[in-house]
Amino acid sequence: MLVDGKPTRTIWLGEDGATVEIIDQTKLPFEFVVAGMTTLDDAATAIRDMLVRGAPLIGATAAYGMALAMRGDTSDAGLENAYKVLYATRPTAVNLRWALDDLKALLAPLAEANRVAAAYARAAEICDEDVDMCSSLGEHGRGVIEKIWEAKGKPDRINVLTHCNAGWLATVDWGTALAPVYKAHDAGIPVHVWVDETRPRNQGASLTCWELGQHGVPHTLIVDNVGGHLMQHGQVDVCITGTDRTTAAGDVCNKIGTYLKALAAKDNNVPFYVGLPGPTIDWTIDDGVRDVPIEQRDAGEVTKLTGVTDSGTIETVTISPPGSPAANYAFDVTPARLVTGLITERGVSEASKAGLAALYPENA
Ligand code: MRU
Repeated sequence: MLVDGKPTRTIWLGEDGATVEIIDQTKLPFEFVVAGMTTLDDAATAIRDMLVRGAPLIGATAAYGMALAMRGDTSDAGLENAYKVLYATRPTAVNLRWALDDLKALLAPLAEANRVAAAYARAAEICDEDVDMCSSLGEHGRGVIEKIWEAKGKPDRINVLTHCNAGWLATVDWGTALAPVYKAHDAGIPVHVWVDETRPRNQGASLTCWELGQHGVPHTLIVDNVGGHLMQHGQVDVCITGTDRTTAAGDVCNKIGTYLKALAAKDNNVPFYVGLPGPTIDWTIDDGVRDVPIEQRDAGEVTKLTGVTDSGTIETVTISPPGSPAANYAFDVTPARLVTGLITERGVSEASKAGLAALYPENA
């Protein structure tokens, strides 16, 4: 997508052919900073500290992390260690495991001398595949938005509500939940996005608002508890979110608070769609509430807020009494029964075992 008019991805190979460059998303929306990764530790830190985040981008970064690791140690032990270090960075987004399994299966049978080049080549390919998948799911999602818009008599505004950041910053390009929005906007459909701020890290406020603004998509930031009210008053035509792990039976794990939006959508007959590329499906589990590991992060993300002051300095402030403990659950699971449809690169499916199996017969 465009940043100041220039086509930009979230991750790319630097000019030296070895350094992997990323947008440091912890600095957005206040500064646009590019960070270079040259080692396995750099990649692990970038994922763990959320310089990069969003399920597909975590997978792409892990793939490049394997390539960076091979530069340091091409042995079998080096490969095992890289897998272990990267796998431990964040537990919920299944794209991480998917990418690591892919790279390991490719590299393990190769002679050590060939591993570096093969890892870089495959990581680049994974990035390109992600762009293609997200673009294609965007087209299918555009169709969903267009149908809803037409069914309502083509009003001069169609309202999409989204949660967290499942835009191009969460992928290599295009996004998952937001790819349909970009495609609809580009096709002349008058789409407007309600953006949940998404406490505690505020990926909606800082990242989704920023990227929608860069692309010129009309949007309005709301606090996380507003969605239900808007739905009761007919102000939301469709909810579209991303997902960090969708089970083979269509349960959707996504950023904390997604479940509550799906409940409100059900109660108000608002369609609730989820955008995802194939690698976000975990074919090994069915029951998301029981089986998806939910990341718990530092309580400081809940008790503190970071922002820019009127004088332009970035500051962090505490918002709760020093003695009050805080809990920071990063994801929740929306059961398949609350999901109207899954928008994938292969089309839109019912959120069910049969629906996903029909789209991905080779995995089912
Ligand atoms: O904790 P984050 O910022 O990595 O969580 C991201 C999300 O929950 C996104 O909605 C999800 O990864 C979908 S990605 C396109």
